[in-house]
Amino acid sequence: MRVPLHFPRTVPSFLNAFTLFTLTHIPMEKIRLGVLFGGRSGEHEVSLVSAASVMQALDPARFIVIPIGIAKSGAWLTGPDVLAHLNGAERSEGVADCFLPPDPTRHGLLVCHGEGAFENIALDAVFPVLHGTCGEDGTIQGLLELAELPYVGSGVLASALGMDKALQKRVHVQSGLPVVPFASFSGKAWLEKPDEIIRYLEDALGYPVFVKPPNLGSSVGISKARTREELIVAVDLARGYDRTVIVEQSVENAREIEVAVLGNEAPIASMPGEIVPSNEFYDYNAKYVDGASATLIPAELPEGIGEQVRALAIAAYKAIGCEGMARVDFLVTRDLAHIVLNEVNTIPGFTSISMYPKLFEAAGIPYTELLSRLVDLALERHAEKSALLRSYDPGTDWHRGV
Ligand SMILES: Nc1ncnc2c1ncn2[C@@H]1O[C@H](COP(=O)(O)OP(=O)(O)O)[C@@H](O)[C@H]1O
Ligand SMILES: [Mg+2]
Repeated sequence: MRVPLHFPRTVPSFLNAFTLFTLTHIPMEKIRLGVLFGGRSGEHEVSLVSAASVMQALDPARFIVIPIGIAKSGAWLTGPDVLAHLNGAERSEGVADCFLPPDPTRHGLLVCHGEGAFENIALDAVFPVLHGTCGEDGTIQGLLELAELPYVGSGVLASALGMDKALQKRVHVQSGLPVVPFASFSGKAWLEKPDEIIRYLEDALGYPVFVKPPNLGSSVGISKARTREELIVAVDLARGYDRTVIVEQSVENAREIEVAVLGNEAPIASMPGEIVPSNEFYDYNAKYVDGASATLIPAELPEGIGEQVRALAIAAYKAIGCEGMARVDFLVTRDLAHIVLNEVNTIPGFTSISMYPKLFEAAGIPYTELLSRLVDLALERHAEKSALLRSYDPGTDWHRGV
């Protein structure tokens, strides 16, 4: 089960083999790639680890890497020492304040060198290696759209849907994809009529359930509730992180199967991998801290089930309009009778040992090549969007003098 090594490229018929050869050997200008990391979400630290791997692995023959760190305060910083600084090192000369103006005529970053002195650093593309809110949820993507910069990964809408577990599920249900029974409600509604909500949840879902803040990741704020008392504690925890709460029926003793998807119009799916969490469920500790969860590549699944999961992964990716990349996660019952789509992660963990790059590595696409392809996909989408009509000439001056 291998994914194709190369995207099919359309070769114009007027190019013969010789011209193709010479074209590919014209030295290309390096791409000035801004790598965005850190951010204000609970996944700040995870982003720093992912970004360190990404920056180390980017092909130096193709890219000039411009590190851009977002501190927990929200301050934007650039320079060679930014990653070390966000990791706790004292601020040095190698760290400068910067910001990305939404003004596309600036073509990139403005770096502040003291009062009123700005240096313009042009960017050809941006790789947001940010997880969670204000990074993976469409907000940064919106800024990059305004700035007209090509960027890796999904656009505004797919990022926002990928982030919101409740809205994402509604779109997936609409697309006929299998999701676990769930309900969502606002924190305000919970304060006003908790008894009504509890009665509804108990009737519709029963116990145990998983209670989550819809717009978070890395299992932050998620708990499993087996009783009414636990449900109340779990909702109070989740609504501290988000204005709404999602409650899902628990898929008991489920296997956690993950598929990596890559591409724009015609995405490809990796073979499925499996996570064997060290805790009862894959919580923050099991994900990052105790180092005891296992990653199995490929997942041991009968071929038919593996193919089904891959097809569902592509369908789920397309249903919410993903582009570039996403990791699509499933919960599969041990008897293999039920395959449930858990969630789509539009910026999956990206360390060299994370599931997403590992799955493609196993499919014959090494980490460095994967990163190059992701930037190529970003450039491809940007070129397509840039070719669209943007203005409309009504042929009259009706608006003047209004
Ligand atoms: N409905 C569910 N049934 C069983 N386990 C679940 C369910 N929802 C979540 N989990 C467990 O909680 C983990 C984290 O939930 P998930 O929705 O993936 O949130 P996150 O975005 O934080 O990764 C999952 O990997 C799984 O171990
Ligand atoms: Mg998850």
